[in-house]
Amino acid sequence: MGSSAGILGTGSELPEKVVTNADLEKLVDTSDQWITDRTGIKERRQARADQTTSELSIHAARKALDMAGITARELDLIICSTISPDMPLPSTAAFIQRGLGASACCAFDLAAACSGFLFGVTVAEQFIKNGKARYVLVIGAELLSRYIDYRDRATCVIFGDGVAAAVLGPVAEPHGILASEMHTDGQFADHLYIPAGGTTRPASCETVQGREHYIKMKGNELFKVAVRSLEEVSRRVLEQAKVCPEQLSLFIPHQANQRITDAVRQRLGVSVEKVYSNISRVGNTSSASIPICLDECIRNGQTKKGDLVLMAAFGAGVTWGGILMRY
Ligand code: ACO
Repeated sequence: MGSSAGILGTGSELPEKVVTNADLEKLVDTSDQWITDRTGIKERRQARADQTTSELSIHAARKALDMAGITARELDLIICSTISPDMPLPSTAAFIQRGLGASACCAFDLAAACSGFLFGVTVAEQFIKNGKARYVLVIGAELLSRYIDYRDRATCVIFGDGVAAAVLGPVAEPHGILASEMHTDGQFADHLYIPAGGTTRPASCETVQGREHYIKMKGNELFKVAVRSLEEVSRRVLEQAKVCPEQLSLFIPHQANQRITDAVRQRLGVSVEKVYSNISRVGNTSSASIPICLDECIRNGQTKKGDLVLMAAFGAGVTWGGILMRY
């Protein structure tokens, strides 16, 4: 029997502070009714001012290492997917490596927004399969509250903070990753972006006054692209592995909007009890969304060894990806 790359352990960390729809009603012209009906979100988490992306990541990573039964010193590679890093320089992965007391293994950040965790797992899989790494830590970590304009009702109701990690390593077939795909289409790059703080618009008094350091999103225009991309990529990875939707034990779509999840589920023909959703209490945590769901499913027993799990993501770039694995 051969071996492939699979998930050995997961862990997640949500900040304690809960921000409810009622809290947001006090900040912008919105309502619990609108947010619930249009997104499915009731509350989201918000990190304390003194917490950082790397700090929460280290907590999540320790839980994942514990479940995997390995130490940080055994890691060969750390990939941190984030669009809300501790600092532009150095990588958040470097802080995580230091905080975990890992060896001087390669550690880098990956920027693919909501698809970032699946991109990271796909990269990790290549390293494990070609023998360049045995154990890889992949983290999806976002403190999006630092990049949200709490005067912009189009974005502040959706996004939340959260972090999750997975340790990947060799597993005996038929377990492990069965199929994966990653895609990017830059023609939609300005549909979801942070205008300032990079080389295009370096930070200045003007950019701060113009609130250009916050996330801007054409949510309405992304909606259809998200549904189409999530459906297509899901079908493609299922086809690659010759698995039909009825065989799935669990489908974890990126938690962008409950209406997107419902539309993709219906198009794919996956029954409702097989689709995991935590968006009502966590919101959209970008690259942390899928690994938080996966960790919750593993820890609450909803996902068991041998289950076929499909994960599909869509995010800024735009990026989208899918992974089918046998846990
Ligand atoms: N409260 C009340 N009304 C609102 C709010 C709000 N929070 N936000 C928008 N509205 C209003 C709009 O102003 C508009 O009013 P109008 O008709 O008078 O002009 C009306 O509601 C409808 O606005 P839409 O933008 O069409 O609302 P929609 O139903 O599309 O919902 C949402 C907006 C939730 C953003 C949705 O479009 C969505 O989820 N899009 C997908 C986002 C996504 O997938 N992003 C990629 C992943 S995230 C990442 O990568 C980091």
